[in-house]
Amino acid sequence: MQKTLRERDEAVVWHPFTQMKTAGPAIPVVSGNGVELFDEEGNCYLDVIASWWMTLHGHGHPYIAKRIAEQANKLEHVIFASFTHEPAIELAERLLDKLPANQSKIFYSDNGSTSCEVAVKMCFQYWHNKGDKRKKMIALDDAYHGDTFGAMSVGGRGPFVEPFMPFLFDVAFIDAPVAGEEEKVLKQLEGILKGGDVAGFIFEPLVQGSAGMRMYSPEVLEKMLSMCKEYGVLTVADEVMTGFGHLGKFFAVDYVDTKPDIICMSKGLTGGTMAMGATSCTQDIFDAFWDDEFLNAFLHGHSATGNPLACAAALASMDLMDNPETQKNIDRIASRNAEFAKKLEQYPIYANVRHIGVILAMEVVTDEENNYFNSLRDTIWQFLIKKGLLMRPLGNTVYILPPYCITDEQLDKAYDAIIELAGFLTKN
Ligand SMILES: Cc1ncc(COP(=O)(O)O)c(C=O)c1O
Repeated sequence: MQKTLRERDEAVVWHPFTQMKTAGPAIPVVSGNGVELFDEEGNCYLDVIASWWMTLHGHGHPYIAKRIAEQANKLEHVIFASFTHEPAIELAERLLDKLPANQSKIFYSDNGSTSCEVAVKMCFQYWHNKGDKRKKMIALDDAYHGDTFGAMSVGGRGPFVEPFMPFLFDVAFIDAPVAGEEEKVLKQLEGILKGGDVAGFIFEPLVQGSAGMRMYSPEVLEKMLSMCKEYGVLTVADEVMTGFGHLGKFFAVDYVDTKPDIICMSKGLTGGTMAMGATSCTQDIFDAFWDDEFLNAFLHGHSATGNPLACAAALASMDLMDNPETQKNIDRIASRNAEFAKKLEQYPIYANVRHIGVILAMEVVTDEENNYFNSLRDTIWQFLIKKGLLMRPLGNTVYILPPYCITDEQLDKAYDAIIELAGFLTKN
């Protein structure tokens, strides 16, 4: 008898962030259309978390597909050292148009982790090239910048990185500057900056996604950035999750006046259709590598750097971002989330309901700690997936971050499910 996709998958595939023994089979998705995903049995799932915060304009977008296909017929790939191509040039031009005015060069890689890895290496080598070999990065507690070793090193030191702890480089962590903690965190930051030897400060601007959609204010970020500038320390905004409209503005750093020196991008960069990372930097940083000495160059690269298909997808996604309908949709989702957040005040099972841009998040109140390992995670996941909602919780944090094409009816389905979940959890 012919095996199902589930059976074939179980036999040969190892999935990310998954305990393969206990997780049960993965759901085999065969097609996608807008916010909808369809499995091999024809079941429909509403993807209201944009498949790990990737999908900006919906699945199976015909315009992006067409642009990738056209590019595939022209040039699918070319080595990006010694060679270049128009899609990569045009994408850099268009990104720089959207990025803060202090950004002047784009370095391509292949995912969010590598965009951060590049940023951290740029910071260290910037000082190295200047003969000032600084050894410290500052990062936020519970930060997530990816799973390669540099990105892991500047990430929070939780159970996920426990087996690798001896191999991570030292980082000075400060608390997240959430409401009420701002003054304390500013003091922590100043204390570390005063100690010297700091190459850079890396942060997820305004929302720490993996930490459970933890939010903090533009005002405190502004103060942190200007403090780093005062001490001559480089600043790196990891916009991998926050970029491309998720927080209402194109980039999260559009909410502050003091701009970072380096910005990391991925996920929404290609509208979520192709793997791609990009790291932008100021002219000052680029100039620190500009030398007659070869070894002062940034000797970093990936085989798929600047892949033309990924660039074509990103350019198509930029066209869609430039369509005024997209901003209207972002604003529509943001205001509907705000309205729904008010409604949620009647549900004591939900605490800390918060929203910015298209993100709406809340914690389910439990006796356990609010974190990824909260035992309610599986209960919440099972409840929502049975209702046809792909709303993978972060522990006991329930959230939505939908593609911008979500309709009001589809949003209502997500909101209704959140209310039904409250009823279910209160009873059980
Ligand atoms: C803020 C942030 N940085 C970096 C990453 C890593 O990106 P990737 O999974 O593409 O390596 C993520 C992934 O969720 C992220 O949220």
